[in-house]
Amino acid sequence: MVIKNVRDFVYQLTGNYYSEDRLHSLKQKAAQMLKDKGIISSVNEVDGKLEVLLRDKELADELISYITINETSFFRHIDQINTFKDHFLKDILKNPTGKVLSAGCSTGEEPYTLAMISLSIQPTLRNKRIFGIDISTRALNVAKKGEYPARYERYIPKEYKKYVEIDGRTLKIKDEVKKIVDFHKGNLVASQCMYKGQFSAVFFRNVLIYFTEEKKRKALENLHKSLKKDGVLVLAPTETVGIKNQDLFEPFKIGRFVFFRKK
Ligand SMILES: C[S@@+](CC[C@H](N)C(=O)[O-])C[C@H]1O[C@@H](n2cnc3c(N)ncnc32)[C@H](O)[C@@H]1O
Repeated sequence: MVIKNVRDFVYQLTGNYYSEDRLHSLKQKAAQMLKDKGIISSVNEVDGKLEVLLRDKELADELISYITINETSFFRHIDQINTFKDHFLKDILKNPTGKVLSAGCSTGEEPYTLAMISLSIQPTLRNKRIFGIDISTRALNVAKKGEYPARYERYIPKEYKKYVEIDGRTLKIKDEVKKIVDFHKGNLVASQCMYKGQFSAVFFRNVLIYFTEEKKRKALENLHKSLKKDGVLVLAPTETVGIKNQDLFEPFKIGRFVFFRKK
């Protein structure tokens, strides 16, 4: 078993592609995971042990948590978020079935950001309005717990600090925010779409950079299905669906930001 088999397995399962120059890093992550699990005692013993990864479902799932890049933060791309708030979120929340998905939600900062803003618009919200899905079990466990290092408070604008509490070195998301957020494990490039026609908007920011064109298409097809008629797709400010996918989404501009309408 060579690392290229692991690369192909990871790619088929998650859409995340490790090119030749990143294979070494993939091997290191796999070795670290096997060491943390006590399967090898030193990362140098990884050769010959890689095959156990692909045979054991639990280990393969654990590997996904090690190889995905979970970088995120509260109120990331804040100007884009504020544009979304003014032009879409206020209307979405007026509809009792209006829901927003954070696809590739990582450790939860993006969905909690959307939830804090939603509550600032409609303080009486009680039902689930913001959904987060991710393929990484480890990232989702952090998200569900809603506890972060206290230093993350600096990313939260003054008017939203009332939705979190600082307890020693921990920042805790308050229950009223957690109540309107739901997290699920999900694979954006799976053959079957998890949600059909449910969301008024889908955030899909800083995820597709890790996908090949083929898997990007698959994820966009799934997200297209998960949106309601005329629903809006939100990518990171520097990302685009690409010309090949404009049969699914129509780009349009608000101020300096491009959003994508479901066709
Ligand atoms: C860099 S984070 C982006 C987090 C957040 N959207 C943001 O912009 O701050 C990318 C996330 O996508 C997730 N991801 C990667 N491939 C995925 C897949 N096939 N299905 C679901 N989530 C995936 C990773 O686990 C990771 O948490």
